[in-house]
Amino acid sequence: MDDIIWDPAWDIGNELIDTQHLKWVRIFNRLHKAVLSDADVNLDAVQKSTLKEILDYTNFHFSSEEDLMRETAYPEAHSHWRLHKEFNNMIYEKNRTVEEGDIILNSALLSLMKNWLLLHIQIEDQKFGQYLQTLNR
Ligand SMILES: [Fe+2]
Ligand SMILES: [Fe+2]
Repeated sequence: MDDIIWDPAWDIGNELIDTQHLKWVRIFNRLHKAVLSDADVNLDAVQKSTLKEILDYTNFHFSSEEDLMRETAYPEAHSHWRLHKEFNNMIYEKNRTVEEGDIILNSALLSLMKNWLLLHIQIEDQKFGQYLQTLNR
């Protein structure tokens, strides 16, 4: 799996959200690197702390997006929140097993996160971006 290279076509046109998506990608690429570099003696610690960082950042980002949806009375806010929750449930369950040492953080988990988030940005967040544009936000 390659690093994610941000495609400007994924911008939704809102500065706050686009900046957060870019930052998410940057943390993800760092996590990806940590998983690949098996020469690191502290590999487990680095992976776990970076995984925690990306999960915390994902939550922070979801909250920002949801706040903006509330503030702008986005009609599809409810189904969008549900999708965020689904992602969290899926990843937190996996993260718990990482913390318990049951699984090694691997490319499969990273691919899952990457595919879900990028698709979500390109389809669902994009819809929200279009709505924001009608409000000039
Ligand atoms: Fe988003
Ligand atoms: Fe979203």
